[in-house]
Amino acid sequence: MAQEDTRQEGAEASYVADRRAPRRTAARMIVVGVIASVLGVAAGLAIDWFPPAASTQADKIDTLWDVLIIASVPVFVLVVTVIGFSILNFRMRPGEENLDGPPIHGNTRLEVIWTAIPATLIVGLVVYAYVVLRDIEAAPAKEPERVVRVFGEQFAWTFEYNEGGRRFRNAQLFLPAGQSVKFEVRSKDVIHDFWVPDFRLKIDAVPGIVTSYRVTPKQSAVGDHAIVCAELCGLGHAFMRQTAHVMTAPQFAAWVKKASAPAGGGGGGQGGGGAPDAKAIFTGGKSSTSATPCGACHTLSAAGTSGTTGPDLDQGLKGKDAAFIKQSILQPDAQIAPGFGKGIMPPNYRSTLTPAEVDALVKYLSDATK
Ligand code: CUA
Repeated sequence: MAQEDTRQEGAEASYVADRRAPRRTAARMIVVGVIASVLGVAAGLAIDWFPPAASTQADKIDTLWDVLIIASVPVFVLVVTVIGFSILNFRMRPGEENLDGPPIHGNTRLEVIWTAIPATLIVGLVVYAYVVLRDIEAAPAKEPERVVRVFGEQFAWTFEYNEGGRRFRNAQLFLPAGQSVKFEVRSKDVIHDFWVPDFRLKIDAVPGIVTSYRVTPKQSAVGDHAIVCAELCGLGHAFMRQTAHVMTAPQFAAWVKKASAPAGGGGGGQGGGGAPDAKAIFTGGKSSTSATPCGACHTLSAAGTSGTTGPDLDQGLKGKDAAFIKQSILQPDAQIAPGFGKGIMPPNYRSTLTPAEVDALVKYLSDATK
């Protein structure tokens, strides 16, 4: 019994002595931490996290990201090295199985430090992020600003313009480079999220309210940029993708003139008068429309597509007449194939396809499924 007590006391003494020793280890920990922070920050800045920045707002957001990397990587490294250091130096050694650690009753100086430093860091980052937010949301100096209404529905976006007093809708988004645009985002059914990754901004489209954000496409951004729905909104969510076309100001003015022309007179822009290429529309190959291509969801052996979100057209259209095919494209919910639900197919082909394109598709599909 007495012998055991002595052994226990001996262990306790060496335990305390051990814990006072590691000055050198602490210095080593600091060196390791500094090196790891520098490497981590360097890697964080070197990695190309985002797609090309296509708006002036995107540059500011990317800078904010870099600042967050610089501020947060050292904090992460600090936490991990202190954990590693503690595991290494304060681990249980043989003979210490029944010991408690030394009694600790708080350390005011340490607690003040570890409260004050993170608080300062967070307040600084919050203020900076707020300044950036104010900056990217600021209204343009030039009035009146261009407003494009964005309507989300299962599973497509529609854009409404008001150019020179003329209101018109389009299934594609066209924007002039170098000019600010405010998107007013609405939803006709469920929650969607209007996101153009190259612009770096996204916002929910919520039924019953109007949300908004502004972007100014950069001059260098002339070209096409993906529009994505970033909120799971139903079976067709993954196909709720369209394209933002950034153009030069003269190109945009020419497009507005054509797109805002009364219906019937503006059909000439699709392919120089030649018959529309139905197969290209179906597969999304060379199509000039930004409608979701049929082949993304439908199997059709003639087109070489194998989508399974919608009915297999080789089977489903066999023996059907042109009227049925046309109705299925323009009013997808009029007749539902067994095993499929309503609201899966985009309801907007009436506006995203020209009448000539619809007719070409109907002819193509009825020939392909005879
Ligand atoms: Cu709309 Cu996801």
